Amino acid sequence: MMIRPLQIGRYQLRFPLIQGGMGVRISGGNLAGHVAKYGGAGLIATAGIGLNSPHYDGKNFFTADPLALRDEIAKAYSIAPDGVIGTNCMVAVTNYETMVRTSCEAGAKLIVSGAGLPLNLPELTADFPEVAIVPIVSSVKAAELIARKWMRGYNRLPDAVVVEDPDTAGGHLGEKLEKIGTGTYDQYATVRGVKDYFRQNFQVDIPVIAAGGIWDRNDLLHALAEGADGVQMASRFVCTEECDASDSFKQAYLDCGQEDIGLVMSPAGLPGRAITPNLDQVRQRDVDLDIRCPSGCLKKCTYKTGQERFCIVHALDRAQRGDIQTGLVFCGTNAWKADRITTVAEIFNELFGQESGRAAASVANG
Ligand SMILES: Cc1cc2nc3c(=O)[nH]c(=O)nc-3n(C[C@H](O)[C@H](O)[C@H](O)COP(=O)(O)O)c2cc1C
Repeated sequence: MMIRPLQIGRYQLRFPLIQGGMGVRISGGNLAGHVAKYGGAGLIATAGIGLNSPHYDGKNFFTADPLALRDEIAKAYSIAPDGVIGTNCMVAVTNYETMVRTSCEAGAKLIVSGAGLPLNLPELTADFPEVAIVPIVSSVKAAELIARKWMRGYNRLPDAVVVEDPDTAGGHLGEKLEKIGTGTYDQYATVRGVKDYFRQNFQVDIPVIAAGGIWDRNDLLHALAEGADGVQMASRFVCTEECDASDSFKQAYLDCGQEDIGLVMSPAGLPGRAITPNLDQVRQRDVDLDIRCPSGCLKKCTYKTGQERFCIVHALDRAQRGDIQTGLVFCGTNAWKADRITTVAEIFNELFGQESGRAAASVANG
């Protein structure tokens, strides 16, 4: 099968691959920059990005976040000056609007947005028409809702849609806990359903990107054969030299087995997939550190309202820094397949073979 470049809005990706946003700070400027350098789209996850940055003083979460985001976008462009660099913005976070706006101002070429329906994204990016906007959905119905709202309110359609499979993807999942893994969800029926919806109702061929459980070239070819125009991959990029997580976070991927990966209910009200944590330890750490919602980072949060469960942003931040005992290590179902630390170039080489060799040579030759 021919692997073709992928056009998203005004930007062409040499390879049909988006590196999925991974918060907190697992995909920062370094990982995103390297993915963009080798011909994919690199996404910086914006959620809580300020926490492990020089801008954070323990209190100024909302000031630190946009400053840190600007730094990370600049870092990514220093690695891939002409690359397709974007951000992942979660609708569920309190500073969603600020992070979208900051992404645009700092030069993000695309914004991929989920964890809720990004119903007003076109309004937030209206001053930056060159920025491609890409919602993440897990159902045709969600894509329909977004398309209808965007057309009615802003006369705009998505530049692409990411269809995320709740049965395999890492991080927060857009499906009810009890429905995940029951065999009722059909990823590629959803991909084709979204594609058909836009064809039939708007006579447009919108790129549909499959996310979740895509690990190697076979998975990639399978996704394309099943009707996807491209893939979004996240977990596969964790065990790279360029990934922005601590070595311990990467080691947790290397050490885990299939049986260690499970679902955890996040205080955000969504299930999340992670290396199964000892939640008592996670909670106890919040108590020891006297965390008690210092930031108010989520619009709706059971920890904020009742100290239920644990503080998600601090648990993810701790894991990113290397405390995997009391932190939370998000991962997709395939994370156990990681068996060594590799490089972004090697992954592109494996996924795209010959095509990637030529691309790497042209990068090296400037
Ligand atoms: C460590 C980690 C953090 C993630 N954080 C986010 C995030 O901040 N926002 C988001 O929309 N998706 C997030 N995701 C989901 C990914 O972007 C991606 O869609 C999904 O993991 C794809 O499945 P894969 O990991 O099997 O490739 C995260 C995934 C992982 C593994």
